[in-house]
Amino acid sequence: MAAQSGIMTVMDRAARKAGAKLRRDFNEVQHLQVSRKGPADFVSKADQASERTLYDECLHARPDWGFLLEEGGEIAGAPGKPRWIIDPLDGTSNFLHGIPHFSISMAVEETLPSGKTEITAALVYQPLTDESFWAEKGRGAWVQEQRLRVSARRELPDCLIATGIPFLGHGNFAEWSRIFGAIAPEVAGIRRFGSAALDLAWVAAGRFDGFWESHLQPWDVAAGMLLVREAGGFVTDFRGGEKCIERSEFLAGNDAVHSKLHKLLAGALR
Ligand code: IPD
Ligand code: CA
Ligand code: CA
Repeated sequence: MAAQSGIMTVMDRAARKAGAKLRRDFNEVQHLQVSRKGPADFVSKADQASERTLYDECLHARPDWGFLLEEGGEIAGAPGKPRWIIDPLDGTSNFLHGIPHFSISMAVEETLPSGKTEITAALVYQPLTDESFWAEKGRGAWVQEQRLRVSARRELPDCLIATGIPFLGHGNFAEWSRIFGAIAPEVAGIRRFGSAALDLAWVAAGRFDGFWESHLQPWDVAAGMLLVREAGGFVTDFRGGEKCIERSEFLAGNDAVHSKLHKLLAGALR
């Protein structure tokens, strides 16, 4: 069993507090005031209330740290201090349609002496199942007190692969279709569940065997990437390189599945 560090306790407490509000609001989803932010991209009161709770809790616990918030943007912290990367509600479309699949994603990003940044702590919380997926750099990935490992499946015909499908005003449908055309005939199934943070947490938990999506933002994936890596998996860009965030391309899986998906992807994008 993993003893949670101070920072994980802060993150867990914040996510559970914001998650309880999301649970209540989800039950009243039809009464929520919804405003349009852009095509198929909604901001709800619940989203903002969740972010406010997470912000207040994190600021209270670590007053000099910075933030990258999906709704609130960047807030500078003291020089050299870590920053929080937070998506207060991942799976907004599901939430607004009454589909019970959404999460809160929180990560801690630290800057190394070289200037490079790394994610050192991660938490993806699913309020409706009360599952808290968490990881710390070098200390493994966990769901509650249970250690997470990526799936042991090595053959694509056994594998369930998650993805995100481009939608109105978002993503590159032609590219996604080429990749889908290469992968779908080789695997047991493709899933599009609508929360990238949970997709990655579920790869870490061995529920999905792999995942690909592009055009995601740091708050969608910062926590999920550490979860997968600490669960023994790989996350790269579509070329197999380290520029996931810069290129906004994410390909995840265990070593065998990642490498097989990478070959299919390379063929599709040639
Ligand atoms: C979305 C979800 C979804 C992904 C979208 C994201 P949001 O985040 O992660 O799975 O396909 O690209 O924007 O808007 O629900 O926070
Ligand atoms: Ca998101
Ligand atoms: Ca969001």
